[in-house]
Amino acid sequence: MSVNISGRFPGLRLRRLRQSSAMRQFVRETHLNARQLVLPLFIRKGKKIRHPIPSMPGVFQLSPDESVREAARAYGSGVGAILLFGIPPSKDRRASGAYAKTGVVQEAVRLIKKEVPDLIVITDVCLCEYMSHGHCGLVKATKRGARILNDPSLELLARTAVSHADAGADMVAPSDMMDGRVRAIRDALDKAGFPDTPIMSYAAKYASAFYGPFRDAAESAPQFGDRRSYQMDPGNAREAMREVAQDIEEGADIILVKPGLAYLDILYRVKTEFQYPTALYSVSAEYSMVKAAGQKGWIDERAVFLESWMSSKRAGADILISYAAIDLAEWIKDDGR
Ligand code: PBG
Repeated sequence: MSVNISGRFPGLRLRRLRQSSAMRQFVRETHLNARQLVLPLFIRKGKKIRHPIPSMPGVFQLSPDESVREAARAYGSGVGAILLFGIPPSKDRRASGAYAKTGVVQEAVRLIKKEVPDLIVITDVCLCEYMSHGHCGLVKATKRGARILNDPSLELLARTAVSHADAGADMVAPSDMMDGRVRAIRDALDKAGFPDTPIMSYAAKYASAFYGPFRDAAESAPQFGDRRSYQMDPGNAREAMREVAQDIEEGADIILVKPGLAYLDILYRVKTEFQYPTALYSVSAEYSMVKAAGQKGWIDERAVFLESWMSSKRAGADILISYAAIDLAEWIKDDGR
């Protein structure tokens, strides 16, 4: 079948259609919807704290009371969900702050769900922020160096997820990359009486230099070694398909690809292959690079953020996690995209 409908100049018809903003939108394939944006928040103990993160201009560590205000602002701007990360007052080798009833995330969830009930509250389920060594699972010292203990970590992750659901979280998002954690979390949630709490799984999470500023924000840089034994090698794409298949098999409801722009090929493949609700995490360094260049006047921050969001949608993302979520939501109001 021939699809060359416009004769000698294939682009002409669409170009004619794009003459006004109304026409452009009329024929556009991809649309932006603020309710599919997720704003990450960093929560620390205390009251009235808004502690700026130098490597992420405009992003703060917030005390639970302040996180309620930020959550309300996000909801008011049209953002659909928030994603909570905790910075505990003290860390240990069993990450006990992660699953404590009085933990900082648990406290924030309770407050936010009370004040902003319609905003979707997602919690990050990981151990690195709560571990004194900064790794995402339990670590054992051996003669040949430290080793991650995959299976014993699962129990702590599951306990963390249940304590978040118990505090009122609408969804949990395991980002640790231990094998088998989706099933462990699913089973634990079901048993604890939360069969309807969905899991957004960081299924394809690469060992990436783009996480640098996040580790400042969450105070979670590993004290030794790196995360390459449990995060993925940037050279591998087929492996991502296997990771995603495995997470779906174990019960993941939403699939997440991370980082964002540098991994749109992975996102596209994941969406095409599995047709699952799919989220893209535009990570800390992606945000900081745009902010820094914007502050210098080298790029138009707003246009670049919006174009990146559009690109992620075009490549297959339903959901975008972005530190610029509130701005994005505001911008599309007056852009009428
Ligand atoms: C923790 C986690 C990380 C990010 C999200 N969850 C850091 C890491 O794996 O080192 C990074 C997010 C970002 O850079 O914005 N497991």
